[in-house]
Amino acid sequence: MSSPKNNYNNLVKPARNTPATTSKMLAGVGGEDKILDQTLRPQKWEEYIGQESIKKNLKILLEAAKERGEPPEHLLFYGPAGLGKTTLAYLIAKELNVQMKVTSGPAIERVGDLASILTNLTPKDILFIDEAHRLNKMIEEVLYPAMESGSLDIIIGKGPSARTIQLDLPPFTLIAATTRIAMLSSPLRSRFSGGTFRLDFYNDDEIKRIALRSAKILNADINGPAAMEIAKRSRFTPRIANHLLKRCRDYAQVHKKDLIDLESVAQTFELLGVDEKGLSSYDRRILESLIDKFGGGPVGLQTLSSAVAEEEATIEEVCEPYLIQLGFIERTPRGRLATPHAYKHLGKNPPQNTLI
Ligand code: ADE
Repeated sequence: MSSPKNNYNNLVKPARNTPATTSKMLAGVGGEDKILDQTLRPQKWEEYIGQESIKKNLKILLEAAKERGEPPEHLLFYGPAGLGKTTLAYLIAKELNVQMKVTSGPAIERVGDLASILTNLTPKDILFIDEAHRLNKMIEEVLYPAMESGSLDIIIGKGPSARTIQLDLPPFTLIAATTRIAMLSSPLRSRFSGGTFRLDFYNDDEIKRIALRSAKILNADINGPAAMEIAKRSRFTPRIANHLLKRCRDYAQVHKKDLIDLESVAQTFELLGVDEKGLSSYDRRILESLIDKFGGGPVGLQTLSSAVAEEEATIEEVCEPYLIQLGFIERTPRGRLATPHAYKHLGKNPPQNTLI
């Protein structure tokens, strides 16, 4: 029987059917969790918890750009989903008091889409491209001169009568975000002259502080131990902490409890099928499949994906980073390998010849 377990994929799954029209792209993608993200999103630097080194670097970069009266140079943020790449971009726009236009790699299908976005920017705007690893090659090639010299080279017509026109663009800052930096072509990567920043997983204490801040915004009473328990099951990820907090709030409300405490949090997690390490039934299914069907691996991503009926990109971008962070899975040249820690977590005996 499949139970109504928590599926983080809904929270952080790579978008597959992004609208193609420019107006929709600029409006951004919808969904309950996007709205939730926006309500809880820090509005000031002081409210943004964690990622201290990135914040320090960005503040210098922004201060210097403001003093010169220029837009900052292009920036690239990478790291697992839900760690706050978009939030950082919004904070930068706010700090500079400029508009931010939001789009994503898969939404820019044609050169014309990009041309329309770029030519509609106002001077000093920020263009935020999420999922930048999914930009197609043709679009990337138009982006290079736009980033480097602020010009747009467009080919009009075909064959012998084709000609190139060059449009000057308003000065702008591109902020790109990706969960898969290795998939960006190196010419694109090298054009982020302002810097490339890797967002790290948060620690439990930071996530606890984020949960307490979010609870305040949501008008929910929560005590310290309950907030810490949410932190421990949040996969070191603020977006998941906020999601779990909301579910705990629902549970407490329905059970007429004024305070979210350890007991109601534990009951909520039981209901959601989130275990003490924050693994969902989907994560456990991956581990179980790896161990029970493939003797612990190594097994290729494609095979694993078929065995668990989950998209490769979801396994790679959503489930694996955390399983790797926990030391439950290793990526080897021959495929995915379950570690003894994974066996232990599932209450299974690791094979004799593995080292703990
Ligand atoms: N909500 C999501 N990410 C956050 C962060 N880094 N700090 C505070 N609140 C957040």
